[in-house]
Amino acid sequence: MRSRILIIGACGQIGTELTIALRKRFGAERVIASDIRQGSGDLLSEGHFELLDATDYAAVEDIIFRYKIETVYLMAAMLSAIAERFPEKAWHLNMTSLFHILNLSKEQKIKKIFWPSSIAVFGETTPAINTPQLTVMEPSTVYGISKQTGERWCEYYFNKYGVDVRSIRYPGLISYTTEPGGGTTDYGVAIYHRALKHGHYRCFLNEGTVLPMMYMDDAIKATIQIMDAPKKAIKVRSSYNLAGVSYAPEDVTQSIQKHIPDFEISYEPDFRQAIADTWPASIDDSAARNDWGWEHSYDLDQITEVMLKNLTPQYK
Ligand code: SER
Repeated sequence: MRSRILIIGACGQIGTELTIALRKRFGAERVIASDIRQGSGDLLSEGHFELLDATDYAAVEDIIFRYKIETVYLMAAMLSAIAERFPEKAWHLNMTSLFHILNLSKEQKIKKIFWPSSIAVFGETTPAINTPQLTVMEPSTVYGISKQTGERWCEYYFNKYGVDVRSIRYPGLISYTTEPGGGTTDYGVAIYHRALKHGHYRCFLNEGTVLPMMYMDDAIKATIQIMDAPKKAIKVRSSYNLAGVSYAPEDVTQSIQKHIPDFEISYEPDFRQAIADTWPASIDDSAARNDWGWEHSYDLDQITEVMLKNLTPQYK
């Protein structure tokens, strides 16, 4: 039988689109979607779907044996804003799930792992403009600490046990299929929904808050590309910086106004502002570009166009 792929956290913002992309590429038979909650109609009907708690070792191992899984995409995680409310739960989910997968690979029960990191690994002391691949990293959020720790463990398992784990530091991701759940960059998606629904958006981040962002298709392309790359091309075994575009809320506003001239934004920053203030404004991703040929496609206006076009039908 051909090798199979397991996606853990398939109902999340990235997981949903990754599942669709991998099924398209490898065939629905070879891709097993799993999540702690029941998937939407398409996820369930268009291929294998399993309910799975990523922190339950026996359950994860069982699925891996049952479906003869060789590759795991571990997308389950608690994001930055929500993790501040549930620090221990976030740490437990983010770390335990990673250890399970790393250990299953160490025991040669799976061959290849994708594990996402984030711009949240950076902190206030990190250079904020063109943040280098190798730099000061003092994250101040539970989520950031879990991702930075995860990166260290990934590199450790690669060096010590030869575990083929590959990782990307995703920026804020913009998509229309599934909304993000509990991050600091969530405004970047919400703003399009509100523009169409109300013509107004009250932003929880302040004007001038420039953050690295990326359209989902670019993020999926990067994910598939890094997993396709030959093993020796992957020189960074912690996690690769990855950049698309960088912008602030007022930049998206102007971009939306090209289509909806009356659209307005107001600012009411909350606790998420303090998180955003510790994150970089732009990212140097030359290592990813040099090592495995990464290139982004979407700029802000292209993102706006595709978001408005695809969200419009649901607000008509
Ligand atoms: N988008 C994520 C968040 O805001 C960052 O990885 O938490």
